[in-house]
Amino acid sequence: MLITCPSCKKQHSIDEKLIPPSVTMARCKKCGQRFPVKKGAGQATQPSAEATANQKRARKIGVSISKGGVGKTTTSVNLSAGLAMAGFKVLLIDTDTQGQDSFMLGLKTQAGLTELVTEELTAEETIVKARENLWLLAGGKSLAGVKRLIDRKDYGGEKTMAESLAPLETEYDYIIVDTSPGWDPLTVNVLFFVNELLTPVSLEMMTLQGLVEFLRSIAAIQKYRKEVALKYILPTMLDKRIKQTTIILDKLKQLYGDLVCTPIRYNSTLAATPAHGKTIYEYAPGCNGAHDYRELVRKVAGNKNLFT
Ligand SMILES: Nc1ncnc2c1ncn2[C@@H]1O[C@H](COP(=O)(O)OP(=O)(O)OP(=O)(O)O)[C@@H](O)[C@H]1O
Ligand SMILES: [Mg+2]
Repeated sequence: MLITCPSCKKQHSIDEKLIPPSVTMARCKKCGQRFPVKKGAGQATQPSAEATANQKRARKIGVSISKGGVGKTTTSVNLSAGLAMAGFKVLLIDTDTQGQDSFMLGLKTQAGLTELVTEELTAEETIVKARENLWLLAGGKSLAGVKRLIDRKDYGGEKTMAESLAPLETEYDYIIVDTSPGWDPLTVNVLFFVNELLTPVSLEMMTLQGLVEFLRSIAAIQKYRKEVALKYILPTMLDKRIKQTTIILDKLKQLYGDLVCTPIRYNSTLAATPAHGKTIYEYAPGCNGAHDYRELVRKVAGNKNLFT
């Protein structure tokens, strides 16, 4: 059934069978307002099929690969900021205990994904506005607690994050999810939430091998969740002076064809920006890094005319 918060008018879709008979009050996950709820009566109505179909849903893109240090966070932040600059409403979610997305955006966050998933705080209390059109749900050390919470569940642990984030899907055009290196319960949760995967691959042999392994892991998840698919392979740290990198780039194109995006060149300015808490477009809009990430934004948005 569909319940509308009397305060902020947010609509929540709830399975009536899951509401215990003793429960008479609900709390809006968006604004935190508590209000009475009656099963099958009053404000509770089924959304029409048309209303459900017409509801805007965010494109959910996970930036992910098990290999560390390949540009996941740099890509998540600059892709999100670029889409926001292009006028889209973007939510960036950091699922890494390193919590580097806040740092890169020059923000000090008190709460984030952990508090939203544990329902200690509402979406409004955890999501911070980072820039015009860009919001951040921060990661950080406390996510270790979320991993334990997921582990403790007897079943359905892999959908923990997706269930908490579902109400946000109609609020944004894009939800970009930065992931941690390695493979843990949170990585699996991300793969049960996003529909599209963008995989950065730094142009070295070890990463290529990491990509093959990561694709095997995705295939294992796809047996249970068909919606998730690899959409973009993003070569990063391309340095044409090093022959090896161009050989690997050719190999990638040969193996994965159109999935391979225009590479992000090695650019020392990209490595310098995090210290300034700025996106590449703010710190050095004319540098190669900014140029390459704008091209990625055009590719993801499917609009060649952006930023012209
Ligand atoms: N194209 C690039 N050119 C030069 N340096 C880069 C480039 N992309 C990222 N870097 C730098 O490489 C380092 C690793 O990048 P980043 O933190 O984005 O990788 P990551 O995959 O998120 O790492 P982790 O797996 O630890 O989360 C950072 O210091 C970053 O500034
Ligand atoms: Mg990272």
